[in-house]
Amino acid sequence: MGRMGIRIVPVTTLDPAQAELAQAWNEATIVSTAATMGEDHDARSLASHRVREESPNWDHRYLAAIDDEARVVASAALALPLRDNLQLALFRIDVLPERRRHGIGTTLLEHLTQLARDAGRTSLAAETAYPKDGTDPGEAFARRNGFDLAQTNHRNDLDVTAYAWEKRSETAEYAIETSTDDTLDEWLLDRAILQQRMSTDAPIGELDLEEEDWDAERLRGERQASRKSGRRVIESVARHLATDHLVAFTQLQVPTAEPELAYQHDTIVLREHRGHGLGAALKVANLRALRAEFPQTRTVRTWNAVENAPMIAVNEALGHRTTAIEREWQKRLA
Ligand SMILES: CC(C)(COP(=O)(O)OP(=O)(O)OC[C@H]1O[C@@H](n2cnc3c(N)ncnc32)[C@H](O)[C@@H]1OP(=O)(O)O)[C@@H](O)C(=O)NCCC(=O)NCCS
Repeated sequence: MGRMGIRIVPVTTLDPAQAELAQAWNEATIVSTAATMGEDHDARSLASHRVREESPNWDHRYLAAIDDEARVVASAALALPLRDNLQLALFRIDVLPERRRHGIGTTLLEHLTQLARDAGRTSLAAETAYPKDGTDPGEAFARRNGFDLAQTNHRNDLDVTAYAWEKRSETAEYAIETSTDDTLDEWLLDRAILQQRMSTDAPIGELDLEEEDWDAERLRGERQASRKSGRRVIESVARHLATDHLVAFTQLQVPTAEPELAYQHDTIVLREHRGHGLGAALKVANLRALRAEFPQTRTVRTWNAVENAPMIAVNEALGHRTTAIEREWQKRLA
């Protein structure tokens, strides 16, 4: 494999001896992503890759394509879940705009496919993204390589400076509790059940996903990882007073170095507790805590599957508006 003048080399973000290569690899991803998304892109920082690469629940493989002038002209990343979803391999390929249509993306995909097969994976999936009124820079490549569209998500942004969050009335049956310092120890057991339900109850389109495997220890690991990568987590939960169990949660993450943009992560209300306004009540409680704790935050960003009508209704009522489209592509490996 390989093309004249292009070398494919493995990269790790963890080895100090490779610091320069890892930097160039990440820079290629950012330049490629920004070419489509502008400065408002969501490409990860190198520090965030490093924390992810340390996770015991994932095997991350990174590849760089280097030309004969020793320049990194494309990046690729493969993520293999180790704890559940052993059928799956998630990837991303980015080629510098001026180096596209020369087969580099194809070469990287061949390498990634081989790595996925070697790891026994049978489904390959990748994400593409583009601004709301733009075009998808990866669609033709994905289709040409046998990928089908498996899910469409909207990136929905909320201007949190424009609202004064009123406290919603809680029902007599539930109490909303909020932590501005991540998932509390006393929540962990119930939160693990809710986290696992997130993987079965949120819409997944045509994606070949299985139920995830969560326990308190895995959540502790996530907490450790978010702290290590400089993110503060604000979480609200709903406690069902009759059983004293948590039946819903929502989570915001704020990068402390750049708190202007915060990320809305998972929200779930267990089926049997829906219809009481808990989803909206939790989000309002969390946004109020965010405003108090991080007055610098201007935008809260979230992604919603287009078929997830209940979540989109809650978000639109809060004021979220679509700014970009993200699509999931999938191929089964024979
Ligand atoms: C998608 C991407 C990785 C493709 O990289 P690339 O090196 O240009 O891809 P290749 O040159 O190997 O393309 C192989 C074939 O795919 C098809 N293709 C790729 N890009 C295309 C485009 N923009 N329009 C039409 N067809 C395209 C063509 O059939 C091409 O063969 P051809 O050039 O002989 O016609 C690159 O456009 C990119 O970085 N996009 C932004 C990031 C992204 O969306 N990644 C998605 C994959 S995870």
